[in-house]
Amino acid sequence: MTINPVFTDATPITALDAERQFLDDVLTGLSAPQKFLSAKYFYDAAGSDLFEAITRQPEYYPTRTELGILDAQGSAIAAALPERATLVEFGSGSTVKVRRLLVHRPDLAGYVPVDVSESFLRSEAEALAQDFPHLAITPVAADFTRAFSLPSGLAEGPVAGFFPGSTIGNFEPPQAARLLEHFGQVLGSGATLIIGVDLVKDRAVLEAAYDDVAGVTAAFNRNLLVRMKQELGADIDRDAFTHRAFFNADASRIEMHLVSRTAQTIQIADRRISFAEGETIHTENSYKYTIDRFRALAYEAGWEAGSVWTDPAALFSIHALKRP
Ligand code: AVJ
Repeated sequence: MTINPVFTDATPITALDAERQFLDDVLTGLSAPQKFLSAKYFYDAAGSDLFEAITRQPEYYPTRTELGILDAQGSAIAAALPERATLVEFGSGSTVKVRRLLVHRPDLAGYVPVDVSESFLRSEAEALAQDFPHLAITPVAADFTRAFSLPSGLAEGPVAGFFPGSTIGNFEPPQAARLLEHFGQVLGSGATLIIGVDLVKDRAVLEAAYDDVAGVTAAFNRNLLVRMKQELGADIDRDAFTHRAFFNADASRIEMHLVSRTAQTIQIADRRISFAEGETIHTENSYKYTIDRFRALAYEAGWEAGSVWTDPAALFSIHALKRP
């Protein structure tokens, strides 16, 4: 079966736009007093493979733990979805997680995976359709952080959202609140949202998860340097920077940085950018919440707290939220 994704945002992004945007963002970020780059640039094809490899590292507990919660408590979590709801997954990627809800709810009216990668969307939707032949699947090719609308012609009835993976942790808290508000607007009043959120815990456990012994997270971080070299022609050596990850307890976030080993100047396009020895590029924040802190953030964004599920060690949480 062929399933073609629907485009519902105003202006799909071309490859040329994307490359110019990357260059602009690199030059802006590397000109700031604290140099920085957006974490969204981790995920080219190589970076997405490296992230997959991260999720298999023994130190990286989030993916495995969230899947464990879905396995152990999936029927209760799925029961938080209204009867005959249409389920919208934001940034769906692979369907391994949503399958653990779908198996409990043959009554669902439809599934709407939303993702920027059109080809991935198509292949995942087709594979899912094989296993859930009665489910109406309507993939939407869109950047879920930007304005988009649900496709027309969805079944009447309640709408629910699914946002696993603690991707919400990559956003600064005010942006995270805005994203939750945006989800509320897309899904409409009365919607339910099932969302995975990583929890605050022992510093050593957190820091190990972002600095695995095998060096996969380090390679993932350094992939940004590889992209700058390959796509922007930067004269940058990936070995000239080291990976650093630490828990910033005041801000309740893991920070990842690339640390310049030496004083060096790199050339990107027509610009020269200097680094002092030990100077860093801040490449990612991954916020960690307590259950109450996350509920307060969601409330600010118009969502009321429902049930919450965690693993026995309380490493990770899955929340049901309701929009009045
Ligand atoms: C995909 C945002 C959930 O923050 O744990 C993993 C990304 N970065 N290792 C996370 C990531 C480094 C991941 N999220």
